[in-house]
Amino acid sequence: MEKTWWKESVVYQIYPRSFCDSNGDGIGDLNGITQKMDYLKELGIDVIWLSPVYESPNDDNGYDISNYQGIMKEFGTMEDFDRMLHAAHERSIRIVMDLVVNHTSDEHPWFMESRSSKDSPYRDYYIWKEAKDGKAPNNWGSCFGGSAWKYDPATDMYFLHMFSQKQPDLNWENPQVRKEVFDMMDWWCQKGIDGFRMDVISMISKDQAFPDGEIKETGYGDYGPYVCNGPRVHEYLQEMNQIVLSKYDLLTVGECAGVTIEEAKKYANLDGSELNMIFQFEHMDLDGGETFKWNEKKIRLTELKATLTKWQNELYDKAWNSLYWCNHDQPRIVSRLGNDSKQYREVSAKMLATCLHMMQGTPYIYQGEELGMTNVPFPTLDEFRDIESINAYHEYTQSGQIAKADMFRYLCYKSRDNARTPMQWDDTKHAGFTTGTPWIMVNPNYQHINAREQVAREDSVFHYYQKLIKLRKQHDVILYGTYQLLLPDDPNLYVYTRTLGEEQLLVICNFTDQEQTFPLPSDWRPEHINLLIGNYFTNKPAEPTIPLLPYEARVYYQTTVQ
Ligand code: NOJ
Repeated sequence: MEKTWWKESVVYQIYPRSFCDSNGDGIGDLNGITQKMDYLKELGIDVIWLSPVYESPNDDNGYDISNYQGIMKEFGTMEDFDRMLHAAHERSIRIVMDLVVNHTSDEHPWFMESRSSKDSPYRDYYIWKEAKDGKAPNNWGSCFGGSAWKYDPATDMYFLHMFSQKQPDLNWENPQVRKEVFDMMDWWCQKGIDGFRMDVISMISKDQAFPDGEIKETGYGDYGPYVCNGPRVHEYLQEMNQIVLSKYDLLTVGECAGVTIEEAKKYANLDGSELNMIFQFEHMDLDGGETFKWNEKKIRLTELKATLTKWQNELYDKAWNSLYWCNHDQPRIVSRLGNDSKQYREVSAKMLATCLHMMQGTPYIYQGEELGMTNVPFPTLDEFRDIESINAYHEYTQSGQIAKADMFRYLCYKSRDNARTPMQWDDTKHAGFTTGTPWIMVNPNYQHINAREQVAREDSVFHYYQKLIKLRKQHDVILYGTYQLLLPDDPNLYVYTRTLGEEQLLVICNFTDQEQTFPLPSDWRPEHINLLIGNYFTNKPAEPTIPLLPYEARVYYQTTVQ
């Protein structure tokens, strides 16, 4: 397999609004990121993925862009951006920008022009349709609730918005739209950025018949078959690749809702014709249900293993995987798959990290994950800021599908705001995030979960992540080895091997709060194997049957060359 830097990198995602506030306005900013560059260097990451920093009215925290070549005022200026880029590059850290081009803000000049008249040269930059039988053009529901169409009285037509009403979808059928997007991307590449994370890129091509979808529990039709991995998406990405991406040395990762393995092999083909890798959602959606993600279900380990194993094996040598548990759209993993009690938070956070980072693909760490940050005890609905969560609360409770008290608990468990509370830097007021009033509440546990304490303590979650990142640089088997799942039906243990030439890893993870045992397979002789990393022990001779403590993780190494 061809070796490239983006296969060998570890990416750290920054959600700028919640990372570090340098000027006391309660909102994180670019100078704050620059100040923390040494922290990131110490952690050992190679690449930063920056969630959007562009001008935006913030209906969806920057995922609604009104100027792709300007910086959001709260975050600073273009000079601040350049300084941050320079500070990163000085430390050999690359910067990947979020590219949000399925939609813009309704305050983007293109949309303001577009909505002004049917004859505007910008009219076809967006998707406009006449009413059907006095109602919306079709029955699609938007991802943030309600219809995906909004009526605009100025021209007596509807426009499509797959997300909020302030996020109108761009019309990728229009070559002029594609040209504008590619020119803008080129402008950023010329500036020296190192790649793009492409927001909902699997949704840019819509079935031009715009058919009604199958009615779902929400009362709206399912847009999935007509929007996700639509008819021309690969053509568009190949065009983007030829015109922009192939001219630079970039990391590209596409966020691909509803992607299948077969589609993934096209998006992230190792022939380099489209993107380097994609984010798939299958393992994160395993606890979804009739009311979308709003429930308290636990993911079954056997299903998790089956799903991740499928992605590991089927993409091997054909396409590249990205590995993640967390991002700005997911609740905290230690509260979801681990155990965030005082007793087990640290070991279970380390176990989850081990399980993911020893797999094949490029790992992504979301800010605070390296500290084992947890979900947030939101006291009331007023503390939530996320448009998706707030809309969902009203939609599901007003329709009577979910009782208010239940929905509030589901929000506390699954809301994206769990990931968006401020980064916990130290035990001073507001966790050292700001000297002002934070835009969203700080998790009260910052007094014992914070970066200062963990950087100073050798056995912290922070140092464990640091070790995992280092190991990736030392052993090619972690990067390029094949993957094999053992014990697929075991409900408690996640065990797999990685193999590359003479090198082999055995990864054993206990996902429970009970002690377990694992009998070593016959080709793993205790006297021939070494513990590479573990979350309880740093040095522990293997025994024919390995006893595992609650949430214990061990990685054994063997080489056939003695
Ligand atoms: C996916 C992003 O990750 C999410 O945060 C955002 O709300 C939607 N796309 C819309 O841009």
